[in-house]
Amino acid sequence: MKSSTYLAGVLGALASLQSAVTLPVIFQAETEQHTLDPYPHKPRLTFKWDGTFKLVVFSDLHFGEKPEGVWGPEQDKNSIILMKTVLASEKPDYVSTSFDASVLNGDLVTGENTYRENSTLLIDQIVAPLNQARVPFSSTHGNHDNQVNITHLEEIEREQKIAPLSYTRTAPAGVGGTEGPGNYWVPVYRHFWDRAPILILWFFDSRGGVSTNPNSTVLPDWVDSSVAGWIKSESKAMELAWGPADTRGALAFVHIPPHAVQSLQTNLDSTKNPGLNADKLGGGSVQASNDPSTLGNDGPFWDALTANVKNLHAIISGHDHGNEWCAREPAKDVVFCFNKHSGYGGYGEPEWGYGVRNIVFRSPDPKKGVDTWIRLQGGETRARVTLDDTYGRK
Ligand SMILES: *[C@@H]1O[C@H](CO)[C@@H](O)[C@H](O)[C@H]1NC(C)=O
Ligand SMILES: *[C@@H]1O[C@H](CO)[C@@H](O)[C@H](O)[C@H]1NC(C)=O
Ligand SMILES: *[C@@H]1O[C@H](CO)[C@@H](O)[C@H](O)[C@H]1NC(C)=O
Repeated sequence: MKSSTYLAGVLGALASLQSAVTLPVIFQAETEQHTLDPYPHKPRLTFKWDGTFKLVVFSDLHFGEKPEGVWGPEQDKNSIILMKTVLASEKPDYVSTSFDASVLNGDLVTGENTYRENSTLLIDQIVAPLNQARVPFSSTHGNHDNQVNITHLEEIEREQKIAPLSYTRTAPAGVGGTEGPGNYWVPVYRHFWDRAPILILWFFDSRGGVSTNPNSTVLPDWVDSSVAGWIKSESKAMELAWGPADTRGALAFVHIPPHAVQSLQTNLDSTKNPGLNADKLGGGSVQASNDPSTLGNDGPFWDALTANVKNLHAIISGHDHGNEWCAREPAKDVVFCFNKHSGYGGYGEPEWGYGVRNIVFRSPDPKKGVDTWIRLQGGETRARVTLDDTYGRK
């Protein structure tokens, strides 16, 4: 007892001596070299040795629906089984999974039904399969994650606390607007020792839902215009640190689809745009569409994203559980894809099924296309497309 206290004292003194003398110098050099590494204390996300990178996207998990009944908890159990089944599939050994990273693309919980005192405990249930599989992941949040007893920020803080491999962050103060803190990016490297990343995963907060009690006012359902300036300044910082934007690839995630994709639905073609198309897009199903007076409010975000982020392979959204298709948006010349509804909670039809969107980069070359498809819980796959330069063009 005594000697270990003594030892602790000596170690403590050494540590403080070291931090007083050596560390400032080392730190300075480190921070200058890695000014743009937002995750200095986490493992770097990297492509596999064979030059591939595989992502699995869970979307609209809707945990916590009717918690005091039977069907609510049943649904969550089924969603956990789905997550475990998908994460265990194509597993090359018993330690790791073949997925290099995962995304939870919004509506993690059905906040309308959860309780003030224990809402964030649902996050523990949701991230458990990812923690267990040791898969790095990031989240966006949706309109059901901002409700009377829960906010995006509360979910983010809980996730950061309990998930060592969560890469979810918040934007600096002043960026994101009311209850929209979840704007950030995650670098992916070809090799962990590389100076510059080869791929940037962007995450945006489309807000929606209502503010917490007692007032519960309706929140804007679009990415705030402050995010546009932030995209520009982050892109500039990346160029200064790593060189021209087109030496990197990009992929973007936002829960509610940008308003511009609504018109794509009228021209879908089952060979170019395969996948379920069961949700008619209208008021509330894309950004800034709940109230006609807000129409176009996601424009600054959409313009900044498509103008500044180069080699943007796709923008990926959930929210509309009955849609799975991808399509090219001609005005900005970018591809948009829906996720697959993963949660047993949330609205849906039994024949829609439950599953994930898989995304595979076959090469670290930022100009090369990526393969993506829907995988259902039972293993069936559909709606496979390669998002390359020719995809979705006339
Ligand atoms: C939260 O509390 C309610 C009411 O006691 C309970 O039914 C529910 O299971 C709890 N949820 C979690 C996630 O602990
Ligand atoms: C929110 O949490 C409080 C406290 O647990 C609970 O009384 C209430 O029913 C919950 N839901 C709503 C919609 O207020
Ligand atoms: C809620 O509404 C009341 C009455 O309109 C107002 O006084 C109060 O400041 C509001 N609270 C919040 C947190 O907005």
